Amino acid sequence: MRTCILLSLMLLIGEDWAEAQKKTANYDESKIPAYTLPALLTTRDGAKITTAADWTAERRPEVLALFQEHVYGRTPGNWGKVSFETREVKKDALGGKATRKLIHISLPEHPAWAGMEVMLYLPNGLKAPAPCFVGPSFGGNHAVSTEPDVPLSTRWMRPNKEKSIVDNHATEASRGNESSRWPLEMIIGQGFAVATYYYGDIEPDHVDGWKDGLRAVLSKDGAATEWKNGDWGAIGAWSWGLSRIADYLETDADIDAKKLAVIGHSRLGKTSLWTGAQDQRFGIVISNNSGEGGAATMRRNYGETTAIITKAFPHWFTKTYAGYGDNEAACPVDQHMLIALAAPRPIYIASAVDDQWADPKGEFLSGLNAEPVYVLFGKKGYGVTEPPAVDTPVGDAIGYHMRTGKHDVTDYDWTQYLRFAKKHFGQ
Ligand code: GCU
Repeated sequence: MRTCILLSLMLLIGEDWAEAQKKTANYDESKIPAYTLPALLTTRDGAKITTAADWTAERRPEVLALFQEHVYGRTPGNWGKVSFETREVKKDALGGKATRKLIHISLPEHPAWAGMEVMLYLPNGLKAPAPCFVGPSFGGNHAVSTEPDVPLSTRWMRPNKEKSIVDNHATEASRGNESSRWPLEMIIGQGFAVATYYYGDIEPDHVDGWKDGLRAVLSKDGAATEWKNGDWGAIGAWSWGLSRIADYLETDADIDAKKLAVIGHSRLGKTSLWTGAQDQRFGIVISNNSGEGGAATMRRNYGETTAIITKAFPHWFTKTYAGYGDNEAACPVDQHMLIALAAPRPIYIASAVDDQWADPKGEFLSGLNAEPVYVLFGKKGYGVTEPPAVDTPVGDAIGYHMRTGKHDVTDYDWTQYLRFAKKHFGQ
């Protein structure tokens, strides 16, 4: 009981406190203090990077290491063997349009981790292996799909009355509550597969969630420990889950594992960007309204700030990152460098005009300021230097749009992602 009260209290400090900050945050461009971005194409010892080969060999590993050290933490390499168990293949899913597979991923050397449940929808009748979108969900597989026979997640969930979460668990009434963000028929209809998992399978999303998640299991002795500077946070752990899905997809003959697009919304958009940076098997990276700690420029004091995010959600990042609250100038990276880590792979950044908390202009600018790396590879970025009008997508290898409406994932967003993926995967 006491733990419950304590947990609820901590959750209040997290989500609700962040929510309250939305009213007092700065939304005035003229009040953003002047800032200088860290140089993208200069190494720590001052050498200038002028070729794609030097970016790949020298600067890219350096930038990746800086993000590990200062923002998201290092992913440990000690999980050992990964095992896949296909628990269901339903050939007449979505009214016969798709095959639905349920795959349980676990770590035989770490049985303390209950594993993750992957749901994969494949278009039926394709003549070749399918390209695949891979992304985590906020509510579980049963929330992504409206099909009543998808097993209900039994994991801990964030309190949410609207989503019929009772005592931190999903109920029958929670089915399909995230389905508007995952237009399965539309995606399948265009010849793409979709693989997803519930992010809480890896770690419950609250300050102490790691104690019941993979981070504790993989920590030295599996015992509760305090996190040090440079150790991974929850975003790193959720991102690890996406890479394990890629491990599985590489074994599935129905999938073209050379055509995987990683996608995520909001905190899971931050996760998608970090996944794309670390795991180059993802050929396309998509960030939907990822905001602060995602695509938004860290040094712009607009909407959510480093100080706010690290206070409300300290568990998402490595400990070091909190030190840059109101002190971003001291941080050796900014988010344009995270976008650049996707290069030369195509990346798409999406904002929503009523999502000022996520700083749409700051999201746009990170893509713009990542362009010099794409140019080294002979690729084109946005083709514009100012944010485009709403609902007017721009860009080539770096894509961007500012959608009408609020913080969400809509069919409009998916229409752009499908177009972008078809173009770059040559579908
Ligand atoms: C909060 C948080 C954001 C995050 C969002 C979400 O608003 O401040 O950084 O992106 O939650 O994940 O929905």
